[in-house]
Amino acid sequence: MMNWIVVNDEKEMAKAGADFLLSRIINKPELLLGLATGSTPVGMYRLMIEAYRKGEADFSRVRTYNLDEYYPILKSDVNSYVRFMRKNLFDHINIPRENTHLPNGEAKDGEAEAKAYEAMIAEVGYMDVQLLGIGQNGHIGFNEPDDKLCVNTHVTALTENTVAANARFFDSPDCVPKHALTMGIGTIMKAKEILLLANGKNKHAAIEALKDDTVTTAIPATLLKLHPNVTIVCDKAAFEG
Ligand code: PGA
Repeated sequence: MMNWIVVNDEKEMAKAGADFLLSRIINKPELLLGLATGSTPVGMYRLMIEAYRKGEADFSRVRTYNLDEYYPILKSDVNSYVRFMRKNLFDHINIPRENTHLPNGEAKDGEAEAKAYEAMIAEVGYMDVQLLGIGQNGHIGFNEPDDKLCVNTHVTALTENTVAANARFFDSPDCVPKHALTMGIGTIMKAKEILLLANGKNKHAAIEALKDDTVTTAIPATLLKLHPNVTIVCDKAAFEG
């Protein structure tokens, strides 16, 4: 079941996304919250920080589990997702550091790290709410278009399209890590509720593919049509192209 919320612009998307997540945290202060990185959620994270500063939000019991991390990457690297999360959210709210989780980009054995990350999420019973962005190629997390998709957390190679899309954050495309640790499609689909955010014309093709009644591993986000409770908040540019 896909619930569509189409808003005017990025600012309204951030507001609708923040209202959505904050309402879930108010209803369940110990929420298990799957988080995402990228440009899309930054404005929403800013509003969540603002809500905390105004005394309208309490993150002290929330537990977060991020979708993915580059692999390998040092935690101290300016482009690591753990640094991104600290800078854009965790350092500015009252969530205990030990309540925040990301796959460890410094792990010696990536496959073992992927297994351990999945086991940790299975142990808590999977996410109450999973936040997602969407790639221009329809990826969710780093589940890239392919003939087969992985169910559980795994190490994956990034597609050229994704390396190119993420190169804007790095000195050159050569510096973008070519692999990542990511929750699998099954890890994501086991969340009770999913919130997908998208803005901008460059997301239109991926968003368009979510409108009909078909699924394909060539556009991984279409698998979300099989989930009972997905809310898509997107701006007009992403919805209409
Ligand atoms: P973006 O990335 O928010 O930087 O556009 C989204 C994604 O690739 O999932």
